[in-house]
Parts: sequence; structure tokens; C-alpha cells
Amino acid sequence: MCRTIKADERFMLIPVVMITSLTSKDDRINSIEAGAEDFISKPFDKTEVLARIKMLLKVRELNVSLARAYGDINKLTTFGKMAVKSFESGQFNLGFAIDKIIEQIMPGKDSGSDHPRMCVVGAPRGHGGWEWTRFEHEPAGIKRLNLDMNLESHLRLPPDNKARIVSYDAENLATSKMKNLVKQLRLSSLSVDNLLCYLSTSLCIFTMNYSREITKHDADVLNTLVMHTLFVKSTLENIQEIEGGFTYSLQALARASETNDEDTGNHILRVGTYAKILATELKQSEAFCRDIKVHALTHDVGKLHVPLNILIKPEQLNKAEFSFMKKHTHYGAMILGDHPRLRMAKTIALTHHENWDGTGYPNGLAGNAIPLAGHITKLADQYDALRNARVYKPAFDHATSVQILTEGDGRTLPEHFSPTLLAAFVSVASRFDETFNSLNDNLYTEVQQPA
Ligand SMILES: [Fe+2]
Ligand SMILES: [Fe+2]
Repeated sequence: MCRTIKADERFMLIPVVMITSLTSKDDRINSIEAGAEDFISKPFDKTEVLARIKMLLKVRELNVSLARAYGDINKLTTFGKMAVKSFESGQFNLGFAIDKIIEQIMPGKDSGSDHPRMCVVGAPRGHGGWEWTRFEHEPAGIKRLNLDMNLESHLRLPPDNKARIVSYDAENLATSKMKNLVKQLRLSSLSVDNLLCYLSTSLCIFTMNYSREITKHDADVLNTLVMHTLFVKSTLENIQEIEGGFTYSLQALARASETNDEDTGNHILRVGTYAKILATELKQSEAFCRDIKVHALTHDVGKLHVPLNILIKPEQLNKAEFSFMKKHTHYGAMILGDHPRLRMAKTIALTHHENWDGTGYPNGLAGNAIPLAGHITKLADQYDALRNARVYKPAFDHATSVQILTEGDGRTLPEHFSPTLLAAFVSVASRFDETFNSLNDNLYTEVQQPA
């Protein structure tokens, strides 16, 4: 019987004392091997037995605390890993993060009676008021229910950016600061036996109905889980803001470079979008596709250094003028400089006029010596130039532009592009047309017009 008790995870921490008339050394060894904590031979002394039981219960209590502490460490480690994952994805969803916190605090029903049986979570809605959710266990998992209650009016929250953690047991619940909140919940037939609260102006979490005393560890675990979550949230928001600023600055630089160009504003945005479409079709990494859309914007930033009489000359450029025009690639690379975050932008500025057959400029690179980002941007740029009127040509429709790129017109030749790039272009060409039409009507669609 002792072996059976000790083999079951649910009962193994229950102390067993053998009280027996057996006295031999073998019997003692047998009972220890079966897992018994103590062995008392008859006749026994009642006081001694009670003292030993007391001692064993104390040991049991410590063992339970130890097991709980291990569980808590596990919880925090798992949660930390999850936080890192959500960090990598760059996305943050508060609802999803709260679900994860609750999963840690209130794991499956089989995991013993150590956990709260109900949680209530509230967060302010964007448009005023708070949204309250109740979490409870169901055989299929955690049930999430909307609580249509105005619980926030019964709370005294700490000042902004501060949080408070408090716990109440059954005795002091009725007289506590939470008594009105508890009353509200009870009015909705939700029983509250004991309560641990995380209170802040941005998030409130109540975990309740523990079948044991709420400890300082419970408060620490809840606090750590929430702090992890809010840290990831604010850091991701900061990163997104910095990223937004970075993209905006590149757009501003690109737009400045187009001041004297024939078309302004949306040409650069369209080139970025085409480039991303091509990169995706060529199965480039997510980061590459995301980056090229932004880094292609500044492909012609070097034109800032080209004199206006060359830039807007209606007649064909003479040899000297054209060789100056070619320098916009080097100037572009120079302006963008050596910052690692602008490496792709620099590469594109330098190589977006190289031809696959080696006839391009500035370095006459051929084949795979041309960086892919530059080569993709070249095609994107040329498609858009074909769709728009230039001093030397009218605007072509989509079909004609595709034909010129794939079959050549004397000026543009298919040999200028890698066969793989051209094939990718043909299969996504219709999306180029859609992009041209949707990013054509309104100049500066992504940026507000100056008043
Ligand atoms: Fe260019
Ligand atoms: Fe361009």
C-alpha cells in the first residue's frame, strides 16, 4: 500500500508512518524501501507518535513549497521564452499576451488544486471605459468570457506608471478596499473566496479562489509575468516608432532628391513596392523583402549632385553630360555612406544601372557580380520609367512596357536582365500594373501634403 501511495504523483508527498509489531531490521529496511517516512514499533507512546507526525507534516509543508517554487521557476522560464519569441516576431497583441499570462497562472485542471480557479482581467478600451474578461477552467481548456460589468468604478488605482499587488484571504475580504468589487462579482453569482490583485491604470488582473493560502510567491509570480509582458510591449512599441522614423527619413531624403525630376513623389514609392514584389517572387528572406521596399526609395539620391541643366535637359545628353549623369550612382553611394543600416540602400544606389550583360554603369559589372538588390531595383525603376512620359518618350501602357522589357526596343534589351529576374517579372507583372494604378493618382499618398 505504501508503494502504491508513493508511486502516485498526487499522493507522493503524503507522509507515511508504519506502526507495527514487526521489529526486525529487515522489516525496517523493507518499509523504508517502500517509501515510508517513519517506522514505529508497538507498543508505542502516543505523545511520541504525535510529535513525529507533527514533524513529518512540517516536512511535507516544506516539500510542497519547494515543489511550488520549482513550478514557479518553470512558469517564469517558459514565459520568458515566449516573451523572447513575441519579441522576434516584432508583433505585440495585448489580448494574446494576457491569455498567455492566464495560461501560466491557471494551468490545466490536472495540475492539482494549487492554482486559482478563476481570473478576471480588465484593460482600458481605446475609446473610453474598460473591457473586462473572466477566465475559468473547462474540460476543453480555459474558457474566456466577456464580463459586461463596470468594475473599474469600484477600484482605487495607483497613479500612472505605478502598479500595486495586494492579496486578501476570506476573513479580510469583506472589509477590504476590494469589498465593492467583490460585492459586484457576487451579485453576478461569481463566488470569491480569496483574491490576489495586480492593479495599474493600464491593466488589472484578479486571480481568485485558491484552495490554499495565497503566498508572497504567488504575488511575485504574477508581478513578474505582467512586468515581462509590459516590458516587451513598450520595447516593441519603441522599436516600431524608431523603424517608422527611419523609413520616414529615407522617404524624405528620396523625395528631396526628386525635386527636379520629371515625376515626383510616387515614383519612388512605386519602385519600392515593385522591388518587394520581385524579391518575394524570387523567394528572398522576409528581412530582404521588407528592406528592399524601403532601401530602393533612395536609388537616385545621387541626382542631388547633378546640375539642373543636365537633369532636365529636353534634348539628348551629349557625351560629357551623360558621363556626369552616370556619376549619380557614385554620389548616391557617397550620400548614403557607410552606416550598416543603409548598406542595402547604398548598394542599390551604386548598382541600379548595371546591366546583366556587362554593358551598364558605373562599373560594368556582369551576371551574378551585380548585387541582387540593385538588379531588382533596376527592373522596377525601368518599368516605372516606361509607364511614365519622359522628355525622350511618351508614357506606355502596361502591355507595351512588359513587351519592351522582355523583348527589347533597342534602348532597353532583355540581355540587361538576368533570365531568372525576367521570368519572375513576367509571372508577377499584373501586380506591377495594379501598383502603378493604385499609387499613381494621389501624389504623396503616404505623407501629408504641406499646407
Ligand atoms: Fe538612377
Ligand atoms: Fe528612378
